[in-house]
Amino acid sequence: MPSPFALLALIASIAAPASAKGYANIPGASSYNGLNLVPQMGWDDWNAFGCNVNETLLFSTAQTLVSTGLRDLGYKYVILDDCWSSGRNSSGYLEEDREKFPRGLAPLISDIHALGLKFGIYSSAGIFTCGRYPGSLDHEEKDAALWASWGVDYVKYDNCFNQGRSGTPEISFKRYEAMSKALNATGRSVVYAICNWGNDDPFDWAYTISNSWRMSGDIYDSFNRPDSRCPCDEAIGCRWPGFHCSVMNILNKMAAIQARSMSGAFNDMDMLEVGNGGQDDNEYVTHFSMWALLSSPLLLGTNLATLSPANLAILSNPAVIALNQDPSAGAAIRKWRYLVADKDANGQGEISLWTRVMDNGDTVVALVNAGNAARSMNATLADIFLDQSTGGTYRPAEELATNWEVWDLWGGRMAEAEARAVIESGPSVSANSTMRYNASAVGYAEGLKANHPALFGTKVGTVAPHGTLTAQVARHSVGLFRLRKVAGMRDEL
Ligand SMILES: *[C@@H]1O[C@H](CO)[C@@H](O)[C@H](O)[C@H]1NC(C)=O
Ligand SMILES: *[C@@H]1O[C@H](CO)[C@@H](O)[C@H](O)[C@H]1NC(C)=O
Ligand SMILES: *[C@@H]1O[C@H](CO)[C@@H](O)[C@H](O)[C@H]1NC(C)=O
Ligand SMILES: *[C@@H]1O[C@H](CO)[C@@H](O)[C@H](O)[C@H]1NC(C)=O
Ligand SMILES: *[C@@H]1O[C@H](CO)[C@@H](O)[C@H](O)[C@H]1NC(C)=O
Ligand SMILES: *[C@@H]1O[C@H](CO)[C@@H](O)[C@H](O)[C@H]1NC(C)=O
Repeated sequence: MPSPFALLALIASIAAPASAKGYANIPGASSYNGLNLVPQMGWDDWNAFGCNVNETLLFSTAQTLVSTGLRDLGYKYVILDDCWSSGRNSSGYLEEDREKFPRGLAPLISDIHALGLKFGIYSSAGIFTCGRYPGSLDHEEKDAALWASWGVDYVKYDNCFNQGRSGTPEISFKRYEAMSKALNATGRSVVYAICNWGNDDPFDWAYTISNSWRMSGDIYDSFNRPDSRCPCDEAIGCRWPGFHCSVMNILNKMAAIQARSMSGAFNDMDMLEVGNGGQDDNEYVTHFSMWALLSSPLLLGTNLATLSPANLAILSNPAVIALNQDPSAGAAIRKWRYLVADKDANGQGEISLWTRVMDNGDTVVALVNAGNAARSMNATLADIFLDQSTGGTYRPAEELATNWEVWDLWGGRMAEAEARAVIESGPSVSANSTMRYNASAVGYAEGLKANHPALFGTKVGTVAPHGTLTAQVARHSVGLFRLRKVAGMRDEL
C-alpha cells in the first residue's frame, strides 16, 4: 500500500543561536520495581472475546504471535483477562475454571513460556471482578502468592465492585498499593498494570506502586463517535470514566497528562482495537500511531486467527513500534488543536499537532486530521520546537536554525502481498528485507543507535531553518514523521 502522504518541504531565512532541552520529567521518578522501562506489549483476550476464553484460545494465540513474527516485534505478554476462575477453595485460594482450563493454568503458563512469551492474569481490586467472578480485595497476599507460584509475569488489576473504597486519591492509592506490596512480597518479577479507568487521578499517584495505570474509561471500536456512557472529555478529575470511549476521546484526554508517562510507569490508553472492524484503515493507522507515540502499552485486542494482511501490516510497522519502545519513554505533547468545519457523520471535525523528542535527538511530528476531508496540514518549526524556546527565559531555539530531514514512518509499511505471505508462511519470507525488523535479535534501543533502516521509514523531504513541514493528510488519518538533523548542516548562518 503506498504511503498516503505526499510531502512538500519549504522556506528558509534568518538563523538564530541558543538551545534548550525538550524533555519533561518528574524528578526522581522511575520504575518502582525495576520493570517495564518501556511500555508493555502483548495481546489481551478481552476486546475480541470477552468471557469466552479457554486454554485452546490462549495457546493457539500464543503460537500465532510467534508464527506471524509479532512476538519478535516485541508483543511478549499473553494476557488472560476476566472470567478464568470458578471461585475460592476452602483455604481461600482462587481456583481455575476446569471446563475452560482443564489442566489448570500452571501447565498452560509453562507452555506459553516455552514459546518465548510471558503470561499475564487479571483480577479486580473489588469483591468481584467486572464479570462477577471473585475479586482480590482483601485477598491480595494469597492471590499474589498463587499467581507467582504458577509463573505469572503480569497482573492487570481492575476496579469493579470496590465497595465504595474510592472517591479520593488516597483511598484508591491504598487499595491498589495492597496488591503492589503483595506482588513485591512474592519475590517474583511481575509487571503491575492498574486498570482503575483514571478514577481518582492515578496519573498523580500510581507511579510509585505500579508500572502502568489506565487514564480513561474503556475504549470501544470507534474513531470519534461520542457516547453518553463515556461522559468525560478530560482525564483530570473525571468522576465517571465509563466505557465506550472513542480513540479521539482518549487521545485528547492524554494532552493534559502526558508528562506523567515515564520510564517504568505509563499512562495506559487501553487495549488496541485494530482488527475488530469498526474503523477504516486510516483510522486504525491513526489509533496505532498515537498509542505508540504517547507511550501507551501496546496490547493487541483482536482475534489473531482472522487478522487481515492490512491489519497485520499496521501492527507490524517497526518504525512506529520503535517510537513506543524508545528509551526516552516519554509521551508526545499536543502543540495545537483546532476544530474544523468539515464535520463527519458523528458531528466531529478537528485537527491537531503532536510532537515528541526522541532519545537520539530526533523529533517526531504527528499531524492528526480528524476532519472529514483530506487536507494539507502545516507544522512550523516554531510550533514543533516551542518548548525548546520557552524552557526558562525565552530564547530562539537552535532547532529553528537547523536543516531537518523528514522521514515518513509509514513509508516502509508492508505491502498487502507481503503481509499475506507472512500470515500464510511465516515472517521468514520477509526476514531479509531491510524494512523488516526482529527485536528479539536486536532490541529497539540498539537498532535505533545503529540507524537500522526499518526503524526510520522513508525519507520524503527536508525542512529548512525557520521552515514549515507541510503534509497532505487523508481524512481521519495522520502524517507521522521523524525530523532528523541534516548531518554537517547544523546551525549554519
Ligand atoms: C475456546 O474459545 C474460542 C474463542 O471464544 C472458541 O471459539 C472455541 O470454541 C473454544 N474452544 C473450546 C474447546 O471451548
Ligand atoms: C486451595 O488451593 C491452594 C492453591 O492451589 C492449594 O494449595 C490448597 O491445597 C487448596 N485447598 C483445598 C482445601 O483444596
Ligand atoms: C520490591 O520492591 C523493592 C523496593 O521498591 C524493589 O527494589 C524490588 O526490586 C522489588 N522486588 C520485586 C520482586 O518486585
Ligand atoms: C497549509 O499551508 C498551505 C500553503 O500555505 C495552505 O494552502 C493550506 O491551507 C494550509 N493548511 C492548513 C490546514 O492551514
Ligand atoms: C530473500 O532472499 C532470497 C534469496 O536471495 C530471495 O529469493 C527472496 O526473494 C528474498 N525475499 C525478500 C522478501 O526480499
Ligand atoms: C528473530 O531472532 C531470534 C533470535 O535470533 C530468532 O530465534 C527468531 O527466529 C527470529 N525471528 C524471526 C521472525 O525471524
